[in-house]
Amino acid sequence: MYQELINKKKKLAVIGLGYVGLPIALEFAKKISVIGFDTNSKRVELMCNAIDPSQELDSKDFEGCDITFTSEFETLQAADFFIVAVPTPVDEHNVPDLVAVTRACETIGKVIKKGDYVVFESTVYPGCTEEDCVPIIEKISGLNNITDFKTGYSPERINPGDKQHTLANIVKVVSGCDTESCDCIAKVYELVVKAGVHKASSIKVAEAAKIIENTQRDLNIALMNELSIIFDKMNINTYEVLEAAGTKWNFLKFQPGLVGGHCIGVDPYYLTHKSKELGYDAQVILAGRTINDGMAGYVAKKVLQHIIQYSENVKDANVLVMGALSRKM
Ligand SMILES: NC(=O)c1ccc[n+]([C@@H]2O[C@H](COP(=O)([O-])OP(=O)(O)OC[C@H]3O[C@@H](n4cnc5c(N)ncnc54)[C@H](O)[C@@H]3O)[C@@H](O)[C@H]2O)c1
Repeated sequence: MYQELINKKKKLAVIGLGYVGLPIALEFAKKISVIGFDTNSKRVELMCNAIDPSQELDSKDFEGCDITFTSEFETLQAADFFIVAVPTPVDEHNVPDLVAVTRACETIGKVIKKGDYVVFESTVYPGCTEEDCVPIIEKISGLNNITDFKTGYSPERINPGDKQHTLANIVKVVSGCDTESCDCIAKVYELVVKAGVHKASSIKVAEAAKIIENTQRDLNIALMNELSIIFDKMNINTYEVLEAAGTKWNFLKFQPGLVGGHCIGVDPYYLTHKSKELGYDAQVILAGRTINDGMAGYVAKKVLQHIIQYSENVKDANVLVMGALSRKM
């Protein structure tokens, strides 16, 4: 597979070209032949004109790339190595919404052939790839995982807007359904990840690693947020406390703040959902989520209190919100 990708006798397809999918597709397209597939034809049209709909990449990032953008699934029949980077949000009850991943698996099931590879990059709970995704591909294609085609999981770590930690210079975790596939997937990713890859011992381990990276961050911020609420009641400046405590060698340097976007505030719910299914109600993780989900309301209340304190005309006060998440098309 690797040699044939290099020789452009085989093609790699990326399914879902958002914050995660487009950068990886373009990086690969500098080395091998790529098909970029997205169901949103408006976004595909923009990418055909070297415009990133997510506004992360410049038109020069599209230069010299061997890539075909499409929303026609038939074009995927020419692909041999599939990477899935579709969204994995939660619904209004914070339950994982796997609709996009399920649809992507159905699409792959229609075009996959013997010898092909499928690697998932979408953030999911441990077990999702093998228990939820693979059976859909097997059912629709009539092929078997491991013997007919190979699967793997390689979580993404990019941070939108962060020009320092890019795809090429952060170590990428890779995994496969067997040793052969893990080795092949590692070699393929090493084409674009200069920092190298870490081979996880199984797909589940790689899935779990991704989830806990964001869960750990969420919890650490939640602790700082709770401390800031307590210190506010004590008329103590939280930042001064953190500065003082930070002089100890093992004090972790986190700060209070709002947790938004579609990763840190979402991924822990994937883990707690699976945990609950297995009979364990996660407590610490959900406590952190409750604190962080409540911070926007807390900040709004504090801002109102300040306005009331310092302004006579509360109704006409203007509030500037910086860093609000905008829904893109
Ligand atoms: N954005 C991040 O910083 C980040 C970082 C690490 C991991 N992740 C994870 O990566 C995954 C993708 O996130 P994103 O931020 O790139 O999402 P995104 O919303 O920016 O883009 C997803 C793209 O997938 C397309 N799509 C949706 N359903 C599809 C389907 N069935 N077939 C083909 N295309 C489809 C959408 O049109 C969109 O262009 C998620 O699981 C997310 O949790 C995101």
